[in-house]
Amino acid sequence: MEIPMGTQGCFSKSLLLSASILVLWMLQGSQAALHIQKIPEQPQKNQDLLLLVQGVPDTFQDFNWYLGEETYGGTRLFTYIPGIQRPQRDGSAMGQRDIVGFPNGSMLLRRAQPADSGTYQVAVTINSEWTMKAKTEVQVAGWRPQRSQNWALLMMLVTTTSMK
Ligand SMILES: *[C@@H]1O[C@H](CO)[C@@H](O)[C@H](O)[C@H]1NC(C)=O
Repeated sequence: MEIPMGTQGCFSKSLLLSASILVLWMLQGSQAALHIQKIPEQPQKNQDLLLLVQGVPDTFQDFNWYLGEETYGGTRLFTYIPGIQRPQRDGSAMGQRDIVGFPNGSMLLRRAQPADSGTYQVAVTINSEWTMKAKTEVQVAGWRPQRSQNWALLMMLVTTTSMK
């Protein structure tokens, strides 16, 4: 009785292993396929930022954009269902932001602010079993670099004045 049980255990273990490898391979494949391009790469305050999604299949059900490390209702910026009359539904993370979604999965953030910085994630639902995801880090430049530039200018002025 013990020998068949052992063989069975070994068999299901190797089956589990191949299944895991297959799932990992599929996950990796779907992640590698989507890519987000930022235009411009480093937006300044009040500049428009386009997040272009490359690798979106011709047919899909819908897509969601999130702002944050986690993807759930609380971080959802908007949902977009192409082909319907009002395709874009804003989520709870939209706030006062001005964001337009496009039928190809891309989005435009108008007048980006430093507070808009963070992790942007997109999830494209292909079907009930397959969702493609991609994420990117956005850094909207604020006033800080300018302030340090002013400090450098002031220090230079002080140094040149005291040298006289
Ligand atoms: C998606 O649509 C936007 C707006 O029409 C366009 O600017 C952009 O080039 C398109 N992106 C891709 C990857 O086709």
